[in-house]
Amino acid sequence: MSILSGKHILLGVTGSIAAYKAADLASKLTQASAKVDVLLTGAAEKFVTPLTFQSVTGRRAYTDSDLWGNEAHVLHVSFGKTADLLVIAPCTADTMAKLAHGIADNLLTVTALAATCPILIAPAMDGGMFDHPATQENLSTLLSRGVLVAGPASGHLASGLLGKGRMVEPAEVFGYIRKALGKNGKLAGKKVIVTAGGTQEAIDPVRVISNHSSGKQGYALAQAALDEGAEVCLITTPTALTPPVGASVINVKSVQEMLDALMNESADALIMAAAAADFRPKIVAKEKMKKRDGIPQIELEAAPDILRTVSTVGAARSERRFKVMVGFAAESQSLLENAGEKLKSKGLDFIAANDISAKDAGFGVDTNRITLLFANGTKENLPLISKSEAAEKIIEHVARLLE
Ligand code: CTP
Repeated sequence: MSILSGKHILLGVTGSIAAYKAADLASKLTQASAKVDVLLTGAAEKFVTPLTFQSVTGRRAYTDSDLWGNEAHVLHVSFGKTADLLVIAPCTADTMAKLAHGIADNLLTVTALAATCPILIAPAMDGGMFDHPATQENLSTLLSRGVLVAGPASGHLASGLLGKGRMVEPAEVFGYIRKALGKNGKLAGKKVIVTAGGTQEAIDPVRVISNHSSGKQGYALAQAALDEGAEVCLITTPTALTPPVGASVINVKSVQEMLDALMNESADALIMAAAAADFRPKIVAKEKMKKRDGIPQIELEAAPDILRTVSTVGAARSERRFKVMVGFAAESQSLLENAGEKLKSKGLDFIAANDISAKDAGFGVDTNRITLLFANGTKENLPLISKSEAAEKIIEHVARLLE
């Protein structure tokens, strides 16, 4: 179930050209099963209409005319008290100033002043306005009060100038919203490291030995851990995916780089979702191998087994740098026997056994069918589910083991 499912989000929209992007955000939130109530300022209405938002949320959108209507009191007081989060995206320099100084002169700012729920803003303004000392001071005030801030990004501004002031893209604001909602989850205060993607073992400066891993399951695990409030470190090989908002990312390529990155870390849990190589070229050619020199014979050697290495560092379990260790077993035959053997030999708390011969599970696709085997001998068969759902299940077990 999505972290947004059933959540009540107030989306404040202020007068910036980025207001059109707020419609996309409202749509994303609604599709993720959140209940979205949109509040537009008068200036926002110059850029977009309430109808735009009503059309994507299926709910009435509110404007300043509602501030003076019969329901005014209910609106601004109860909204800010019953909502799970007030998001203001885009948030202009003017609205930031009002929030910082407690000015309540429209439905949105009245609601913000009365709100007891967390507030997240995504600033959007033109060249120079964000850097202005007044805005910077307002920003510091808001941050010191615990207001969450997404962006702004640098780049092309509506005026044609380049600079800091662009609203971060709706998908990124969505990530910040997830992070804000997950803050007090089951993994709050815990650190989780997830490895993802297929490693690349260099043959020469242009060629590598790699595998079909897309990184999807690892990225979904990082997101699921963030949704439960964990501090997440994602150690990833190059993939086509965008890391989830809030994860700290370490980019690696080879097994050795992944192992080195892990040896510098410790965490409550390590989830090794990466498809790490077992073999690598014994010698990496310094120069590009040329066709004219004939077909090369590439001698392979064993790559280090990351899980085996980290599980044997520190003799006692309490000394382990990762309290809970989870592995994946990618198998094309004898799934449970092979996975069970890896569970023991790699010193894991549990392993997710994956039949990679199935078309709808494993590498590249969005779904997975896995069986979880636990160190205590129990097992759990998960049906064919999305990689996000599989990630949520795995994270549930990690949280349980860390209780
Ligand atoms: N793994 C690892 N280091 C490696 C290779 C794999 O830590 N060099 C981890 C994987 O991330 C996974 C688990 O070990 O969590 C099992 O990986 P898998 O490829 O299924 O098994 P291997 O141990 O590599 O054995 P084999 O390839 O022979 O099945």
